[in-house]
Amino acid sequence: MIDTNALLVEKILKLKKERNAVILVHNYQLGEIQDIADFVGDSLGLSQNAAKTEADIIVFCGVHFMAETAAITCPRMTILLPDRHAGCPMANMITAEQLRQRKKELPNATVVCYINSTAAVKAESDICCTSANAVKVVESIDNDEVLFVPDQYLGHYVSTKVNKKFHLWPGYCPTHVRIQPQDIMQLKRENPQAKVVVHPECRPDVTALADEVMSTGGMIRYAHRNDVQEMIVGTEIGIIHRLKKENPGKKFIPVSEQAVCPNMKLITLEKVLWSLEEMRLVVKVSEAIRLKARATVDKMLAIV
Ligand code: 13P
Ligand code: SF4
Repeated sequence: MIDTNALLVEKILKLKKERNAVILVHNYQLGEIQDIADFVGDSLGLSQNAAKTEADIIVFCGVHFMAETAAITCPRMTILLPDRHAGCPMANMITAEQLRQRKKELPNATVVCYINSTAAVKAESDICCTSANAVKVVESIDNDEVLFVPDQYLGHYVSTKVNKKFHLWPGYCPTHVRIQPQDIMQLKRENPQAKVVVHPECRPDVTALADEVMSTGGMIRYAHRNDVQEMIVGTEIGIIHRLKKENPGKKFIPVSEQAVCPNMKLITLEKVLWSLEEMRLVVKVSEAIRLKARATVDKMLAIV
């Protein structure tokens, strides 16, 4: 029988070389996409990697704001997103106009935007953060008042760690709100030795039950520790592929099989090949917005 995936992979790798492209992949992507990556990581790792690559093209296997962040930091490069519908609903829960209005109501607050936001929102913000560095970024701010957008749950988590006044935008991740405290409690009873690790996009009643609250990159590093043999994983289930691949013999239990980000799953091997063949979809940001958004992202990259 013909192995279609193997044929697709062969074509992708050949074309990638000819075009001097790199394939950057988020930890939530399908296993077969993770397996063709030059780099797999969290939003912070991906943006750091994009900023330093020497390639001409980045095929971004993730969602739109991730590719857009690469377009902000790497204007010389062509950034391809293999499916134009791969967006992040949370990033679309605030517009630049809504943020401008809120800033007028809170003129003294420093605006911190989660990287899960549009370029236009980044351009209206003072500094960016990811789930890996949000506490550090907010601690670095020389102001006691913060407007945090768009994720209310990440913002709330940071507010429990840093002594500042927070104004939270009511955005949330539709995938992470499916992770329920009762599921974690049940799994803890069934697996008493397991560490509970959850993403800070989860609701506060979920983060309260966790041993560790981490970005997806933090979870990958944590799973390598010798004292971690079993992990109850509270984030999007795509991460289980990498956790198992890098840690044979260890046990990884997803809190909920419902925690699937449908946008992340839009990227397939066929679409990656098509994207490289046709050089589509090119993600672009207007220069006026790019320059302002870049200042916001660069401030973050200087801290971490
Ligand atoms: P990470 O940066 O932790 O990978 O999170 C990205 C994301 O979209 C989580 O839903
Ligand atoms: Fe956005 Fe949530 Fe999907 Fe992450 S998991 S990309 S926050 S919708």
